[in-house]
Amino acid sequence: MDDTPSTFPDSLPALRAAAREAGFDMSCEERTGSLLALLAAARPGGRILELGTGVGEGTAWLLSGMDSASSLVTVELDEVVQEVAREQLRSDPRVTFVAGDGAEWLQTYDGEPFDLVFADTWPGKFTHLERTLELVASGGTYLIDDLSPQPGWPAGHGAAVQRLLTDLEEREDFHSVRMAWASGLLMAVRSSHARITPRHGGTD
Ligand SMILES: C[S@@+](CC[C@H](N)C(=O)[O-])C[C@H]1O[C@@H](n2cnc3c(N)ncnc32)[C@H](O)[C@@H]1O
Repeated sequence: MDDTPSTFPDSLPALRAAAREAGFDMSCEERTGSLLALLAAARPGGRILELGTGVGEGTAWLLSGMDSASSLVTVELDEVVQEVAREQLRSDPRVTFVAGDGAEWLQTYDGEPFDLVFADTWPGKFTHLERTLELVASGGTYLIDDLSPQPGWPAGHGAAVQRLLTDLEEREDFHSVRMAWASGLLMAVRSSHARITPRHGGTD
């Protein structure tokens, strides 16, 4: 089966061209993007958070799945990079761009929780994990990517990823699924039910 997505957000070609021009190569893969669109579509009227806008490719995928009653907040430290996203997407009233440090934003945000959180930068993933998970509504989804080893990873990053995966999987309040697909994803859903006991060892 070929799993290349067959439909794309209208704004994607322009965002990709701008990313190439800016030398920005951290946008999400298109398969990840298609999953973002699907998860957004599963939440009519949903409240969505993206940590790390980049040039807006993930933002565009999320918007492509959202209905007209849904809303998206996307936070980015680098204003120059985020300006690319703003240029292409700011006419969409469903998106709010925040320029600033995600860590600071997470610490000061005091609004409603989110139905979908795409944590695509350090804060929300490798730091401030607890605070970010607090912001996931009951039944809400937390998604992270870039978990499969890459040649350019700095020393110690592989161990940090393993710790993150373990931390998430050991939680009582979330069900997690690893997906060895695209750049390597983990999807977790907040549940009030007791979760399945983790398997330590065993072969089946
Ligand atoms: C992997 S890229 C985001 C890609 C985007 N979500 C997408 O799917 O196309 C990570 C982004 O996080 C930004 N970033 C780094 N540190 C940050 C911080 N402390 N707060 C917010 N954004 C940060 C980087 O500038 C970069 O644009």
